[in-house]
Amino acid sequence: MKPAAEQLQRERPMTTTQNSFPGLSRRGFLLGSAGVAISAGSIKLATPAIAQNAPLRVGFMLPYSGTFAKLGKFIDDGFRLYVEQQGGALGGRRIEFVQVDDESKPETATDNMNRLVGREKVDLVVGTVHSGVAMAMVKVARDTNTTLIIPNAGVNEATGPMCAPQIFRTSFSNWQVCQPMGKVMFDAGHRNVVTITWRYAAGEQMTGAFKEGFTKAGGKVVEDLALPFPEVEFQALITRIATLKPDAVFAFFAGGGAVKFVKDYAAAGLNKTIPLYGAGFLTDGTIPAQGLDAAGIKTTLHYADNLDNPANTAFLSAFKAKTGQDGDIYAVQGYDAAALLAEGLKATKGDWSARPQALSAMRAAKIDSPRGPMSFNKAGNPIQNVYLREVRNGKNELVSIAGASVDDPARGCRA
Ligand code: BEZ
Repeated sequence: MKPAAEQLQRERPMTTTQNSFPGLSRRGFLLGSAGVAISAGSIKLATPAIAQNAPLRVGFMLPYSGTFAKLGKFIDDGFRLYVEQQGGALGGRRIEFVQVDDESKPETATDNMNRLVGREKVDLVVGTVHSGVAMAMVKVARDTNTTLIIPNAGVNEATGPMCAPQIFRTSFSNWQVCQPMGKVMFDAGHRNVVTITWRYAAGEQMTGAFKEGFTKAGGKVVEDLALPFPEVEFQALITRIATLKPDAVFAFFAGGGAVKFVKDYAAAGLNKTIPLYGAGFLTDGTIPAQGLDAAGIKTTLHYADNLDNPANTAFLSAFKAKTGQDGDIYAVQGYDAAALLAEGLKATKGDWSARPQALSAMRAAKIDSPRGPMSFNKAGNPIQNVYLREVRNGKNELVSIAGASVDDPARGCRA
C-alpha cells in the first residue's frame, strides 16, 4: 500500500475545484480572519448557485491497508455505490472524493484528519473503522466544527460525552451490538463465560457491554483475556481457555484478526467442546476465508446476510454487480452513510452552506436500510434492530431479533 500522502495525491481528482471560491470556505470563516469573514458574508447571497457548480468534497479517512483493509474498502465501495445509483450527485450536488489511508493507527489520526480538513479543505469527512482512530477524528471534528459521519467505529464516546450536532454514525455503538448478547447466552444455558479480545477501546467496550447484559441476566464472566491490537498470536490465550473450561466464549475480533482467531480456535479443537459466540464482526465479511471453521458460530449484529427485505435484496445484487463480491455489514454502513448525506443535501437542494438545515434533516432521517429501519437518537447514533445470527451454509443467517429498535443510552451526551 502506498504511503498516505502519496495515496492522497494519487486519488486527488484532476478536476478539483479546491480554492475556486475561497470566500465560501467554511473553515476560512472559522479561522476568523476579518477579510475572509467579510467576503463570506458578502458572497452569502450568491452561495447556492455557485456552490452547486462545485462538487461537494467528501474526505474518506479509512483503513486501506492492515488487518482492517477489506473493511475500509467495502465502506468506500458501499458509499460510492449509493452515489452512483443517484447518478453521481446527492440532492443535485455532484460529489468528489479525497482518500486517506489511516492504517488503523491512532498515533497518526490527528494529522490525517487535520490534513483532510485543513489542506484538502473537504466539506465533510467519512471515517473510520478503528475506535481509537475515530476518537482522534471526533476531537478534530469538534474543534474545527467539521461534519463527520462514522461508518463503522463503535467507540461509545463518539455518541456519548463527545457527541456534537455535526457528528453522526451509520454503524453502531460498541455497547449497542453486544449488550443484547448477554441475555442470549444466558438463555442458551451458559453460566460461566470467558471473554477474549484485542486490548483497545472497541474490545474493552464490547466485552464490557456483553458482561453488563450477561451478569444482569445472572451469568458470570470467569476471565477476560486480551492481547494488543492488531496482534494475532492467539495460542497462549487459547490454551488458557482450554484450561479454564468455561461453558462458552464471547469474542470480539474483526477483519484479518477474526479470520485467524476462528481458524486457530478450531485447530485447537475447542469449537467441538466450548461454543464460540461474539460480536458479529467475528464472522462478517470473513466466512469465505474461515470456511467450515466458522460453522455454528453465533453472533449479534445489526445485520444478517439473509434479511428478507427489498432494500437488502436490491443492495446485495447491486453490490455484487459493482464489485463482484458479496456485500457485508461494512458495505451496508458505507452505503447508508451516503444515504444519510443524501437526506441532508436533499433538504438544502445541494447547498452545503445551509449546513444547519442539512444537519437537522440528517438527525431526523428515517432510512430504509438493507439492515431494516434506521433512525437516529439525539446523539446521532442509529436506533436499529440487533439480530442473533448463526453461520450456516457459509452465511450469517438470521436466527431471531435479539433486540428490537435498540437505542444506545448515549451516556454523557448533553445534546
Ligand atoms: C472498532 O474499532 O470500533 C471496530 C473495528 C472493527 C469492527 C468493529 C468495530
